[in-house]
Amino acid sequence: MSQYWSDIVHELTPYVPGEQPKVDDLIKLNTNENPYGPSPKAVEAIKAATADQLRLYPDPSSTRLKQAVADYHGLTTSEVFVGNGSDEVLAHIFKALLKHDRPVLFPDITYSFYPVYCGLYGIEYDAIPLDRRFEINIHDYDRPNGGIIFPNPNAPTGIPLELKRVEAILQKNRYSVVVVDEAYVDFGTESAVRLIKNYPNLLVTQTLSKSRSLAGLRVGYALGHSDLIDALTRVKDSFNSYPVDRLAEAGAIAAIQDVDYFEQTCQRVIKTREALVRRLEAMAFTVLPSGGNFIFAKHAAMDGAEIAEKLREHKIIVRHFSRPARIVPYLRITVGTERQTEQLLSVIEEILSV
Ligand SMILES: Cc1ncc(COP(=O)(O)O)c(C=O)c1O
Repeated sequence: MSQYWSDIVHELTPYVPGEQPKVDDLIKLNTNENPYGPSPKAVEAIKAATADQLRLYPDPSSTRLKQAVADYHGLTTSEVFVGNGSDEVLAHIFKALLKHDRPVLFPDITYSFYPVYCGLYGIEYDAIPLDRRFEINIHDYDRPNGGIIFPNPNAPTGIPLELKRVEAILQKNRYSVVVVDEAYVDFGTESAVRLIKNYPNLLVTQTLSKSRSLAGLRVGYALGHSDLIDALTRVKDSFNSYPVDRLAEAGAIAAIQDVDYFEQTCQRVIKTREALVRRLEAMAFTVLPSGGNFIFAKHAAMDGAEIAEKLREHKIIVRHFSRPARIVPYLRITVGTERQTEQLLSVIEEILSV
């Protein structure tokens, strides 16, 4: 606290990111990073961009990157906005498109950055309770609103929402912007990108942090009608002209173009996830259906916090949320390599046996 702070700073409740430990002999399954590392072609492209080019500012419009994203998704560059991680893209979306007289709607259990952006930009919101099975009930979104946002699959539950239900939300809400945050979509959830042509109020966000294993590079994007993209560009150009640096642009283009590597690593993560779920269920865990690179699970007898603490003693870190009450028994576990998963499972077995 300081007398020099503006009023808004006093009132902020900032987002708390998952821990990035300073030691590296841990099995890190707490922030949904990808265990396989980025495409070797992306790493080469980043190295190649380090020489004399760094003297110069990057392209403020990230034209080449937008073209790569547009080509990948079958869209035009006017339907693509890129930014410094999808968090920044989401922040611009809240600022540019979700601030209205009516409250913005999102699930009560969801990505915890959404209420933080509302606080930062003075946006009212209603947190709509997930149903008993932690699923989004689309009828609950059938009410006046200043915009709707939800991740698909949802986080931290991992539960995907069928595309026909996403479309039903769009049909009922033609007068407000509907944002589908697809940070984890490549791990087996159906994308809403193909609905963009029919719904000028739809924005889809994606990131290179998870399925392209480039969390450290900070590149994310939004896809939607050019009118929505123009609004985001206006905010970006009033905030930071160069959100995507030269290294990030070079690496992101190469990663997007290396489709084989991307598909192979995603498939590997999905396969390991399915094996992990089966083995946990056999140890009396309830695991929610996951369409992401993480699972949300609770044990029949042992509390989530206790398991997390014991795992840490064995140098494995997972994520436990102490609120809201409904998710306190659960643990969010990122899908690691096959080897890390074996180690995780044998430690869990040991913890449960004492
Ligand atoms: C649901 C969801 N959306 C967006 C993000 C932000 O990803 P990034 O800023 O790395 O692109 C995350 C990160 O964990 C997330 O879980």
